Parts: sequence; structure tokens; C-alpha cells
Amino acid sequence: MMGMTEAHVRFLNVTKRLGTTLAVDRVSLDVPEGNFTTLLGPSGCGKTTTLRMVAGFYHPDAGEIYVRDVPVTDIPAHRRNTAMVFQEYALFPHMTVAENVGYGLRMRRVESTQARRRIGGVLELVGLVGQESKFPHQLSGGQQQRVALARALVVEPEVLLLDEPLSNLDAKLRVRVRTEIRSLQQALGKTTIYVTHDQEEALSISDRIAVMNQGRVVQVGTPQEIYYRPADRFVADFVGLANFAPVQVVAPGRVRLDEVVLPVESAVKPGPALLVVRPETVSLAAAAPTASDRPALRGRVKTVAFLGGLARYWVETVGREWIVDHAAPGEQLLSGEVYLTLAPERMHVLYENEVTHDGEGQA
Ligand SMILES: Nc1ncnc2c1ncn2[C@@H]1O[C@H](COP(=O)(O)OP(=O)(O)OP(=O)(O)O)[C@@H](O)[C@H]1O
Ligand SMILES: [Mg+2]
Repeated sequence: MMGMTEAHVRFLNVTKRLGTTLAVDRVSLDVPEGNFTTLLGPSGCGKTTTLRMVAGFYHPDAGEIYVRDVPVTDIPAHRRNTAMVFQEYALFPHMTVAENVGYGLRMRRVESTQARRRIGGVLELVGLVGQESKFPHQLSGGQQQRVALARALVVEPEVLLLDEPLSNLDAKLRVRVRTEIRSLQQALGKTTIYVTHDQEEALSISDRIAVMNQGRVVQVGTPQEIYYRPADRFVADFVGLANFAPVQVVAPGRVRLDEVVLPVESAVKPGPALLVVRPETVSLAAAAPTASDRPALRGRVKTVAFLGGLARYWVETVGREWIVDHAAPGEQLLSGEVYLTLAPERMHVLYENEVTHDGEGQA
């Protein structure tokens, strides 16, 4: 494995059993230098366990983790150059902000003048100058979160590990702090592994996303790749909303859905498949389109929800209920019979073996 990649952190077939649960199952993943990689998946899929193995809090049962091509699994946590912000970020309640942030430096016996300078530096970075002598209970949730972040950054870790760092914040603050974390990470160029079960959060802040399910990494890609070209039905369903329909690919670029043949750019191999259609890639109209090169599906509006920036329709079409989002809907919403036009370049097809993911044969 010597000098073979630019991966900063590399997982190779990492497996971890906890009790009787196979928490992490043969995970392989490369995190490039300076990259913000997110582990995204439902509760219990093995995200925290994976992160803890990088920090050295768990030892893998099999496989190896490399940091710059150096195998680290036998290096104890305190000798690894990583810092982790925990899912339940625990600040020491009896310590001030400055003491909390400086904790890791005291453990590392950093000399006090230098420690003060570094504490001052990270507090400035996270916008907490002036709060040094407050105690955690005197801070808002967002401020406490920033103390936890500062405490991780102050030891100047080579790799930053963040485990659902925003879970204790309300929705508005989550959005603000995640943007702050992302800007900070970009300014520092710090290799970061971030864990969340929130797909929107993952899409909004990551360079790359590794989607996990039942201990396995099922897809790795940019947010756009994950969203537009999900590797299987699980990913399509978990990341964003998706409409599905069984289809027959009749020729390259052509798909039969009921009695309609649609152009679908990504359909290559003839045979049965599952069409994946994102709600915002469908156009809705009250009348059938006249251009014959874009066949439309006929549907009927079941329900509509006006959400301000968009109207979300539940439309019965091709024997199922699809969700269709219409941006900037204005005051006149559609009802009754409608026509759905699909964007050939935005649809995705999944073939048989990708439809039900059995945990084997990662794409
Ligand atoms: N100490 C433990 N003993 C036994 N099983 C455990 C232990 N810790 C975790 N598990 C199990 O291992 C699996 C993975 O847990 P993990 O904490 O990595 O999930 P997660 O993806 O971080 O979930 P969440 O989003 O809920 O934090 C789960 O099925 C969990 O129940
Ligand atoms: Mg977790």
C-alpha cells in the first residue's frame, strides 16, 4: 500500500462487530487531502462506529485504516493526530470556555503562553472572542457547539472528525452553523470526515458523500452524483424524494412506461429497469403539450400543498402516485387532469440488480 494514492485517510475492507451486530461491514473509502467527506445514512448504519475507528476509540476486527499510507489501527487514540467532535458534544460544565478549549493542550503539555495564544486564535476563528470566561450553561446552544469545535481545532489535528455536531441545535441554527463549519473547513483546508443522517445537510456542505446502509458504504460521490445518479433504490429513496416506475428499456435512450415511449438519456442496456424521477424535474401543465417529441404522461392531481417557493403536487399517473414540485407556482394552482412532461437528461434508470440492494457487490 506504500505511496500508492493521494488519499489522506483510507479505509480498506474495515469491519467491526459490536456485540452481535455487524456495525461496519467491509468498508473501503478514500478521503483525499483537504476534502470534506460526509458519511450519510440512517440511524444505526455504522457511521459513528466508522468515525471512532479513525480516532482510535475502536479497533477494527478486520481491514486497515491508513493515514497518509501509514497503517494506524494499532496506534492508540492519544497518539493519533485526529480530533473528534462527539454526537453528544460534552463540554466540561465546571470549566470556562477557555479552559474547555485548552483542555487538549494541557493534556499534551503545551506550554502556557503558547496555549493562551492558540486558544485565542481558535476562539477568534469560531467567533467567540469575549466569551472566554463564561461557563457552558451561560452560552446558547450554537455557542456551545462552537466551543466544541474550537476544542477540536485547537490541537491542530491533521484530520477533523465531526459526529452529527449539529444535532442539538434548532433548525435555523443548524443551517447557520453548518455553513460556518464549511467555511472554516475550506479556509483551513482541513481534511474532514463529517457524520450526519440528514440528507439535506450532507448535500449542502460536502465535497463528497459516502452513503451507508447496514454497515456498508453503498455509494460514494459528489452531492450531484448521489442525487442524480443514485447507485440503487435505497440511495435514491434516502437522498431526496424520488418517484419510481417499472419500465422496459426498448433501445438505447428509449424507455417504455405503460404505453408511452419516453426518451431517457441514461437508459443504455435494453431490458427491465426501474425509472427514477426527481419531483422537480417534472413539468406539469393543464393541457397536453403540442410538441410530439416530448410525450407527456396523463395524470390527475390528488392533493396539492402550497409551500411558498414551490407547490408540491401528489399526482396519480401510470397507476401510481408521484410527487411533482412546481417552483414559483403563483396564485393559480393546478387541479384535476394534468400532463406531466419528463426531462430526458434528468431521469435515471436502475437495473434489476440495483433495485434491491442485498448488501453485496457494491457498485
Ligand atoms: N456498544 C455497542 N454494543 C452493541 N452494539 C452496538 C454498540 N454501539 C453500537 N451498536 C450497534 O451498531 C450499529 C451501528 O451503530 P452506530 O452507532 O455506528 O450507528 P450510527 O450510524 O452512528 O447511528 P446514529 O445515526 O443513530 O448515531 C447499530 O446497530 C448499533 O445498535
Ligand atoms: Mg451515531
